Amino acid sequence: MASAPRMARASVSPAVTAEFSSDVVVGLSHAGQKELPSKYLYDEVGSALFDVICLLPEYGLSRAGMRLLQRDSHEIVSLLPAPVLVAELGSGSGQKTRLLLQALSKRQRVNYYPIDISGSALSRCQQEIGQMDRVSIVGFESAYLDGLQEVAARRRDEERILVLFLGSTIGNFDRPAGDQFLREVRRILSEGDALLLATDLEKPIEQLLLAYDDPAGVTAAFNLNLLARINRELGADFDLRQFEHTARYDECERRVEMHLRSKVWQRVTIQAAAQRFYLREGETIWTESSHKYSPPAVVEMGERTGFRCAQQWFDAEWPFAQNLFFVV
Ligand code: AVJ
Repeated sequence: MASAPRMARASVSPAVTAEFSSDVVVGLSHAGQKELPSKYLYDEVGSALFDVICLLPEYGLSRAGMRLLQRDSHEIVSLLPAPVLVAELGSGSGQKTRLLLQALSKRQRVNYYPIDISGSALSRCQQEIGQMDRVSIVGFESAYLDGLQEVAARRRDEERILVLFLGSTIGNFDRPAGDQFLREVRRILSEGDALLLATDLEKPIEQLLLAYDDPAGVTAAFNLNLLARINRELGADFDLRQFEHTARYDECERRVEMHLRSKVWQRVTIQAAAQRFYLREGETIWTESSHKYSPPAVVEMGERTGFRCAQQWFDAEWPFAQNLFFVV
């Protein structure tokens, strides 16, 4: 018999579903702009679509991050205290991390702790990193800060922590919330610990809009899948064909926003929450922000939140930076 499909209907714990449901209800109940938290874009389908986005010629962000780690991992490692354990916020596909762990494992045995709310992301990461020599991996299926706290509790006396926050995920936070998040990371760490933070940089608007609204429609599918996920997991009846993906750039905030625009007046029912919502023709649901930075703004963000920037590395093709910070 053919093997079962990997994902027919996601099976998730009641507590996780309840939180998803209440976040969805809160976001869709906003009197003004409706919104949905971007972290829910990454179920199994969404994560697979994001991997395809990273292959698109229009989306240079993740290739830039790869090139930098390919080129600079050894230099980054040479600046790190020893011994150091590695905690990663968001395990992603593990590809970039592999480059860094490879360089680090030449110097020491490495304990690597990926932290992700998505179990499927963790298992993909486990596959990519699992068989590396001199690297042992323990994943934490939890929110970033909860996971980091658990990792910090496991550290041995002389051991320092390197936190990885790659892929410019920091850009999903509004700037004040990004500061707040870094402060909380800082609070869990101690003097001498390090943070490697990746940031996508400001670039021409046309280039950004193509990156977030590619002509093949992969990003549109990635965005629309959020509604499909709500249908699957919360028994909702979003009609995906009545929505349209849009990307816009807010010049004041220096961020790309993804929205889902309702093509018609429509009503949506979410069974798990026993709730109904209405969308006007043209009304949008805001699903993600992706903030862009200038190099000095990244240094200042670190300084405001309890870090000192040791070095920045830049990609020549796609404006993007890896930034190494130390706790002060
Ligand atoms: C994974 C959050 C860095 O903001 O560029 C890609 C997600 N959204 N295309 C980003 C994303 C649309 C991505 N991050």
